[in-house]
Amino acid sequence: MPHPRFDPLAGVRAADAPPVDVFVSGTVFLDIIFTGLARTPQPGTEEWADGMASCPGGIANLAIAARRLGLRTALASAFSDDDYGDFCWRTMESGEHIDLTHSRRFHDWHSPVTVSMSVERDRTMVTHGHPPPISPAEFIGCPPRSAAVLIDLAEHVDGELPTWVRQARSQGSLLFADVGWDATQRWDPGVLDRLDSVHAFFPNAAEAMAYTRTATAQDALYAIADRVPLAVVTRGSEGALAIDATSAEEAAVPALRVDALDPTGAGDVFGAALTLGTLAHWPLRDRLSFASLCSALAIQQFGGSLAAPGWGDIADWWRVARARREGTAYESSVARRYAFLDAIVPTLPESACRRATATIARRADVEGLG
Ligand SMILES: Nc1ncnc2c1ncn2[C@@H]1O[C@H](COP(=O)(O)OP(=O)(O)OP(=O)(O)O)[C@@H](O)[C@H]1O
Ligand SMILES: [Mg+2]
Repeated sequence: MPHPRFDPLAGVRAADAPPVDVFVSGTVFLDIIFTGLARTPQPGTEEWADGMASCPGGIANLAIAARRLGLRTALASAFSDDDYGDFCWRTMESGEHIDLTHSRRFHDWHSPVTVSMSVERDRTMVTHGHPPPISPAEFIGCPPRSAAVLIDLAEHVDGELPTWVRQARSQGSLLFADVGWDATQRWDPGVLDRLDSVHAFFPNAAEAMAYTRTATAQDALYAIADRVPLAVVTRGSEGALAIDATSAEEAAVPALRVDALDPTGAGDVFGAALTLGTLAHWPLRDRLSFASLCSALAIQQFGGSLAAPGWGDIADWWRVARARREGTAYESSVARRYAFLDAIVPTLPESACRRATATIARRADVEGLG
């Protein structure tokens, strides 16, 4: 894997550190995103959209978010050998420098596709796909040594985490788990039994309260903290709460005040940034603030993986936020909270990754990206 232009873990990486920082597995979709529609298309009509972008989606969002933050990221996924599969593979491997050694191409199987339409701030999606001939859980075999593995807690085999996840754990990987909305509304508390070997769990408040049968985000956090060393509950525009038992820290941070154009995927970017901060041994408050910043930068742009910020975007933001430290009371509070970036931003190379890189821009035609 080529070295990232900026390695945020350079200072903490031991000589015998695993070759991979973050290993993830899941389904990659080809996402086609239409933006700026005046209304949701009605039966029998055709609408013209102002903007359009194509990008790898699904698990690619998480992998790309982690990689743009400089984490050495490896993905195990099934890719078709059709043109959409070529595009997703090329974008991730050559454009984003994600290690696909553990991914596989399949011949008699086509790429899963999602068409997403954004009207106002709501997204409507249509998806088509079939399960791959062999699932990643079967073809991963022994996972690579990695500092962290990011998983979806709801994904399981007979109620247990997949074998490769347990193997990664026994090789020393820290497990970071998210969970999604349960469309069945059963919120089976048995899902939480899978937290046994998990290091960090970061559901949103609605999911956390539903699974733990609690009435507030704070109580859900306490219930989760009984089960994992690092418990985090995200609260959308209200920020995030966390408890880290390994360092005896408890923290709550507000969200940044931004115009949330497309909140989809905030959770993925948050998780990637939280993982980075934890691997870098940052204080809990800085980790939460950093994750909130990265997700706030992402939701101001359209389009899943295209919107994930790189260090260049973070540096641009900090230069402006820092210059406004004597502005309004809100602006000074932001500058105080993010002062830890002063130790990082000046060390960034000029070429630090920005999301509107040529690779992406050539393939995107979305306001703010193209
Ligand atoms: N409207 C917003 N304004 C500012 N920050 C936001 C907003 N929405 C989300 N965030 C940031 O993103 C983080 C994660 O968002 P949220 O709690 O909505 O997760 P989620 O529901 O898991 O997201 P996803 O829809 O991607 O699964 C929040 O803690 C916050 O820092
Ligand atoms: Mg989520």
